[in-house]
Amino acid sequence: MRLARVILLIMTTAMAAHATVTKTVFGTLPDGTAVDLYTLKSDAVEARIMTYGARIVSIQSADRDGTMGNVTLGYSAFDGYVADPSTYFGAVVGRYGNRIANGEFKIDGHDYHVPINNNGQSLHGGLIGFDKLVWQAHPIAGGVEMTLVSKDGDQGYPGTLTAHVRYSLHHNALRIDYSYSTDKTTVVNLTNHTYFNLAGSGTVLGHEVTLSSDQYTPTNKVLIPTGELPTVEGTPFDFRKATTIGARIGADNEQLKIAGGYDHNWVLRGHNGEVKTAARVYEPVSGRGLTVTTTEPGVQFYSGNFLDGAKFGKAGESHAKNTGFCLETQHYPDSPNHPAFPTTLLKPGETKHSMTTFTFSTHAK
Ligand code: GLA
Repeated sequence: MRLARVILLIMTTAMAAHATVTKTVFGTLPDGTAVDLYTLKSDAVEARIMTYGARIVSIQSADRDGTMGNVTLGYSAFDGYVADPSTYFGAVVGRYGNRIANGEFKIDGHDYHVPINNNGQSLHGGLIGFDKLVWQAHPIAGGVEMTLVSKDGDQGYPGTLTAHVRYSLHHNALRIDYSYSTDKTTVVNLTNHTYFNLAGSGTVLGHEVTLSSDQYTPTNKVLIPTGELPTVEGTPFDFRKATTIGARIGADNEQLKIAGGYDHNWVLRGHNGEVKTAARVYEPVSGRGLTVTTTEPGVQFYSGNFLDGAKFGKAGESHAKNTGFCLETQHYPDSPNHPAFPTTLLKPGETKHSMTTFTFSTHAK
């Protein structure tokens, strides 16, 4: 009896033990601003997160033999991130993650123009989005809180936006909490743009993906949703049962051709603001699994189609096509121009919250 109680005490203490958090300097921007790196370490996972773009730099998790390995794409040296304007490795993207058609939207009858940086469209907040700014940071229990104040008119968006992104590690789960408020009505879509590769190297085409989704948002030629929400049934977009990324990526399908693979938003089933499972991924060789839960209504599943092996930074790492995938939990692309989509409007006086978790697991053969 006494022994059982001691064991129970040890177990609950271990479960409640917070991940350790340490801080070092990762690099310096050309203007001299120091960029800090926070290392979160639990009994199962080590996540490194930096203040430049509030980015996840790496996540180490065990394979089925217990060997730790990095399951995200990124650079070993800071200068790689600064030199690379277009992959958004690990970043929090905003103020509006994903695309806004022609960089235009209306709020209360007023026209707003935001920078065009992708095929005539605005992508991931514009030319200097949240991914390229240094966030203020302080440690919290088992994690780090990053804060960014984006001024009224920043990249053309109205309202001073205050955004807090809290990363915390709980055993094998990395949790991201977003909260944000404004002093003038604006639009916001924050997500994290980490590229995962559960095998640690090679392409991700053999990863098996399951998405909790019956519908998706097909796009026009410049990846702006048409507004339709067709069923995934009978299409290469049906991931209701575990299917490898590579199984149908080369199918004769107009939507796949437009994006050069998967780069679409899936409508998450039964969205009601509560935390739900959005996706599960399994990599059979390493035995690693990833489960994504979120309060968001959609997820952009991107198969790394635009990775082209370019080299950035002193360390000279390159990342080839399809060597990483993203699961960007979010509101649908171009929502400001689609009143029927869940709203991305943020009004003064309200604070919005959203939450996403990435949980790492291992599975026997
Ligand atoms: C998002 C977009 C993609 C691509 C990547 C970054 O996921 O949907 O089209 O731009 O960002 O390269």
